Order: sequence, then structure tokens, then C-alpha cells
Amino acid sequence: RRSYSVSSAFDFAGAMFPLSSSGAGYTALGTPLTPNFDLGAQSLEKNKSLTYLNGLSLVVGLIIGSGIFSSPASVNSNAGSPGAALIVWVVAGLLAWTGAASYAELGGAIPLNGGAQVYLSKIFGEWAGFLFTWCAVMVLKPGSAAIIALIFGEYMVRAVIGADASDVSPWINKAVGVIGLLLVTLLNCVSTRLGARSADLFMFLKFIALLAITVLGITVAATGWSYHRESLSNTWKTTNWFEGTSTSTSKWAVALYAGLWAYDGWDNTNYVVGEMVNPARDLPRTIHTSLPLVILAYILANLSYIFVLPLATINASNTVAVAFGSTVLGPIGSLVLALTVSGSCFGALNATTFTAGRLVYAAGKEGYIPSLFGTIGLSSSTQIRLPRRSARAKRFTRFIADEQGFFYTPIYAMALNTALTAIYIIIGDFTTLTTFYGVASYLFYFGAVVGLIVLRVKEPELERPYKCWIVTPVVFCCVSLFLVSRAIFAKPFQALVVFGFIAAGVPLFWWRVGSKRRGIRQREEGWWKFWRRWGRS
Ligand code: ARG
Repeated sequence: RRSYSVSSAFDFAGAMFPLSSSGAGYTALGTPLTPNFDLGAQSLEKNKSLTYLNGLSLVVGLIIGSGIFSSPASVNSNAGSPGAALIVWVVAGLLAWTGAASYAELGGAIPLNGGAQVYLSKIFGEWAGFLFTWCAVMVLKPGSAAIIALIFGEYMVRAVIGADASDVSPWINKAVGVIGLLLVTLLNCVSTRLGARSADLFMFLKFIALLAITVLGITVAATGWSYHRESLSNTWKTTNWFEGTSTSTSKWAVALYAGLWAYDGWDNTNYVVGEMVNPARDLPRTIHTSLPLVILAYILANLSYIFVLPLATINASNTVAVAFGSTVLGPIGSLVLALTVSGSCFGALNATTFTAGRLVYAAGKEGYIPSLFGTIGLSSSTQIRLPRRSARAKRFTRFIADEQGFFYTPIYAMALNTALTAIYIIIGDFTTLTTFYGVASYLFYFGAVVGLIVLRVKEPELERPYKCWIVTPVVFCCVSLFLVSRAIFAKPFQALVVFGFIAAGVPLFWWRVGSKRRGIRQREEGWWKFWRRWGRS
């Protein structure tokens, strides 16, 4: 039996990453089509249980990740001064905020799973959704996983070797990142449940790390106490915070991309809409509190870094949290922070691998990419079944295995994602990858938010549970257009690769989607011939 029951296999997935499900309202654009990317969260439709506070913690948890522990170097060195860096953090946060508010309106007006893919296809046509999916499969998902894996590698190396591992070859960091990636892929291939269990385990570490940094930094600033008091940077008290501010817009754009990485994930607010008890009231409330909260948390953490560390140290390392821990609490502090942050990155990598697997799988099922990637697990003869043993062994297996046993997961899809991620880890570094990822993601965020404005004009009567102030999407569009166009000057190579991928998607659309349509016709003709030949006898 090779039947694949979507709802049972993905129920756990749905519980882990609640995705938006359909509600009322989407009628004005015509009959609601079945979404291409329903990742099996349909069962959640009945389950409207998220309150405002649930939504808040979910969104905050989705946004906070590797960025606040790794972006400061790229932000500070490109902005040129601590004051300018703080401005970048505020601007990036505000941009994410306007984006999230715009996406909330889109999510309410088109309440289907799939995020930008669905909005773009509904508003501009299937080709736009296809290009987004293509880029998500080739660039966005593996690109974001590569950034997180790199940060995981850097923090892990520092946890093992010690705080001053500044002369470690970047290849060692990359190798550790790839090992972490392979481990996460294996966990997620073995069973959906095992992947989700390990995500839960590592999820809360980032809150601990961020809280520790903020509390310690402010304590140090207020009392002057620290383990390595002599290496404490007190320059923040005397120097001008805007000295050395960069005057090149391209550098500001690169700094912004690094900051935007830390705020990325705000588009995931849409995934919680479907399960909210009262989305019309709670969704705007969730967004208008979670984003200010994250902005505040990031500003405080950055102030902590500036209070404790000399600017040269912040500028020089992607592992600012380790340097921070070592200055404030000595070797123990650096070890604890290195372990906590790498654990947090491991959890984030796990979550990304999980969702990427589903996205690539759905694209394979849709015929957008070869259908091999839309198949599940090993062949039924090799699939490992649940062993029948003692009650305890059974309980343990049930804890980590899916109902169908082991390896009943989209392993080909995950293998594709992992291979691409490994390539990006090998050829990229943090700043290169955040710019690369930022250009690609903000191009599509821009497209979707332009779509919001188009939809307002085309479908003024459409039911919108939440309607944002029209200035919000306009500001978002202007700033993201500026960012994307500056990237062409700041990092022409990365921008070129992104545009190349998108351009490659255009002929692919005609080939894959066209051949899919031709395929359907051929199969019908084939059946007709078959019936004529055998049906009458
Ligand atoms: N903001 C997160 C971080 O700092 C990145 C989230 C990755 N985004 C995503 N859609 N997977 O690590």
C-alpha cells in the first residue's frame, strides 16, 4: 500500500507549524481554487484555539533566531558607527513591521495556505506564484538554512575550542555547519515526529540567550562589574556614537540586509491567522505588539553589546555573543553562550529543514519540479516498520516514530534542499548570504505587497477582516525597491545570481506547467485509445 494520507502524516506538522487555513471571504476573485500548497493543515480549520498571547509568543519565537547573535558585526561594520548601527536596527524593524501589517491584510483577504505563492498567483497569475516557488526551492529555503548552519558552525567551534578561536580557518566552521545540516536532515528523514521533538527541545534556548545578554549588559553598564573588568569597553561613555558613520548608500543597504535577516520570519504571521479565535481583532494586535517587542529586544541586546565590547570586537566576529559572555562571565560565560546559541541555531535549522522539505515536496507534487521530489519515503519493501517488543520499547518508538514507521518522510525533497544548502554554505559567507537571501526575499515581499495595492484597486469590495493603513504598504514598497536596487550596486554578483535564478524560472514555467497541461491531454487521449482497443472486447 503506497497511499499517503496527508492529514495523518502532517497532523503533527500542523501542530508544530500551524499554517493558515481557509475561512470566509475569498469569493470576489472568483471561485476559490484549491491551494497548491496546502501542507495538510486542513484539519486545523476546526481547531480555532489560538488566543492573542499564543499568537504573540508564536510570532516572536519565529522571528528571533540566529540573527541577533550574528548580524551585529555586519551591521556595525557597514554602518560605520554604533549610532548608525542602532538606526539600521530600528529601520529594519520598522520595515519588517510594515511588511507584516501588509501581509496580515493579504492573509485575511485571501485566507489560503501557502503565503506569497498563493497571493502572487491569485493576483498576478500562476506564473508569479511559480516563480516564487521556484525561487523558494532554489534560493530562499536553502539560502536561509545555509546562513543558520554557518552560524551554528561558528558557535559550535567556539564552544569546543574556546572563546578566542579567531584564527580558526573558516573551512572548519563550514565543515561543522555541514555536519550539523546533515544531522538535522537525518533526524527529519527518520520521522516527522523525531524532527519535531528535537525542535521543541532546542526552541527555548534562544530566549534564554537573548534574555541573558540583555540583563547582563544592562547590569554591567549600571554597575561596572564584570569578570574581565580590564577588557571592558568603556569607550561608549566618552566617544561620539556617530563618529565614522558610513556615507555610502550601498554599505547602508548591506547593513540593512544583515539587520533584516534578524527580523526575517515576519511573513509567518499569516500562518497563524487560520487558527485564531478572533483573527479580526487579534491579528492586528499580535502584529502591533510582537514587532515592537522584537525591535525593543534587539535594540537592548545591541546596547548590551556596545556597553560591554569594544567596537573592533563587535565588527570583527560573527560570534559576538561568545565575546560578550567571555568578557562578562569569563570562560564559563563564553562556553554557556556558545552552547546556547548553537543549540538555538540547531533548532532553527531543524525547523527550516522541516518546512523546506514540505515546500519542495509540494512543488514536486504540483509538477513544478521533477516528480521524484514529490514522493514519500523509501519503497514500501524497504520502509522500516515499527518493531513489536516490550511495552516500554513500544512507547519509546511511538515517541520518535510516525504511525507508518520510519523514513515515511519526503526524503528526496529534503535531500535536494540539503544539497543546495551545502553548496551555499561552501561558497558563501554570512554577509554574502544575507545579502543574497535579502535580495531574493525582498523582491517577492515587494511583489506581494504591490499585489495588495493592486487588489485594493481591483477588488475594493473584497472582505478584509483586517485592513491596514494604505501608507503602510506604500512605505514598504518604496523602501524594499530601494533596497533591491541598491543591492545591484553593493553586491552585483549576488544580485545577478538571484536575477539569473528568476530568469531561469521563466522558460521553466512554460516547460513544466505547459508540459503538465499537455500531459493531462495526452493521458486522456491514451485512455481513449485504450478503451477503444480493449473496452469493447
Ligand atoms: N530571523 C531569523 C533569524 O534571525 C531568521 C528566520 C529565517 N526565516 C525563515 N523564513 N526561515 O535567524
